[in-house]
Amino acid sequence: MSYFRENIEKMAGYEPGFQPKSTDVVKLNTNENPYPASPKVFEAIKNITPENLRRYPQPSSDSFREAAAKIFNVKSENIICTNGGDELLDMAIRAICDENRPLAYPTPTYSLYPVLAQIQNCPAIEIPFDSEFNLPAKLASAGAALTILCNPNAPSGTFISKQEIAQLSQEIKGVLLIDEAYVDFAEDNCLDLIKKHDNVIILRSMSKGYSLAGLRFGFGIANENLLAGINKTKDSYNVDAIAIAAATAAIKDQAYFKQNVEKVKAERKRLTAELTELGFEVMPSRTNFVFAKSVKTRAIDIYDKLKENNIYVRYWAYPDIKDNLRISIGTPEQNNKLIGELKKITAQG
Ligand SMILES: Cc1ncc(COP(=O)(O)O)c(C=O)c1O
Repeated sequence: MSYFRENIEKMAGYEPGFQPKSTDVVKLNTNENPYPASPKVFEAIKNITPENLRRYPQPSSDSFREAAAKIFNVKSENIICTNGGDELLDMAIRAICDENRPLAYPTPTYSLYPVLAQIQNCPAIEIPFDSEFNLPAKLASAGAALTILCNPNAPSGTFISKQEIAQLSQEIKGVLLIDEAYVDFAEDNCLDLIKKHDNVIILRSMSKGYSLAGLRFGFGIANENLLAGINKTKDSYNVDAIAIAAATAAIKDQAYFKQNVEKVKAERKRLTAELTELGFEVMPSRTNFVFAKSVKTRAIDIYDKLKENNIYVRYWAYPDIKDNLRISIGTPEQNNKLIGELKKITAQG
């Protein structure tokens, strides 16, 4: 006899990228920002008092919502704060999907989506991207209660234009969640779609552009009615007091954030050129990682050899992406180490 629901019994669970114990490695496998968060974040953490921790935190992270509302030119009521962007995905799927109300998304994409669908026991309609990662036409007519579009997409790093997404939000019947976890590194975003389309919710993360992956803080931006429904699935105190203080300090320091993003983008350009020079086919990235197809040497062999040299990148053995490596953008020094090793590996063939 199993203790678990049938769908839980059958599923494998999400597999996060490897977290090496040693810090003396070049870790380019989970799309963390290579630079530390704003010094203001650490000041805010230092200023936490015993009283702040004795009490429960603000249930809706109001300090953060007020600060973010000013930056994004929306009302606080248009923002919901979550324990990482991942929690927003989980809440939206729990609020919207069930056995008769499917989830749809193009593939390949963030591998957490099917896992959340399995937990919720809702059908997952997967619609493949073409080789250039254009928006699949069939997504609009899939008949899903919730459609997730990761834009820029992971692991491809590619970007679909706001015009095309606006069209999609008009055509679909259900809710469209645009996962913009990586949008801080792109030139455009879909934020203003929430003003015209009451079925659109934007996901944002503090893990990538703001260097706070360890803090666990994300947020959603949408029409108030849509948020009211999703809010019903929220834990009463889903984000802790330290996270609220730190994330608020980070989002307020836009100058520091923009400077870091520019540094990552400059290295993205350089790494893309170097990888292309080495014979990789690199998708145009609008994120803090690149998706590189290895034409000559097997991607798994490169992954293994890099690992032997304490350089970690991400590899998936799935048939559609098994020739690719996803490489997070590191500091110039980290990227130099990676390029140096890749030169040796590709020379060996
Ligand atoms: C596409 C995508 N969406 C959402 C997230 C969630 O980010 P977090 O929960 O760290 O805010 C990630 C994290 O890697 C991601 O890759």
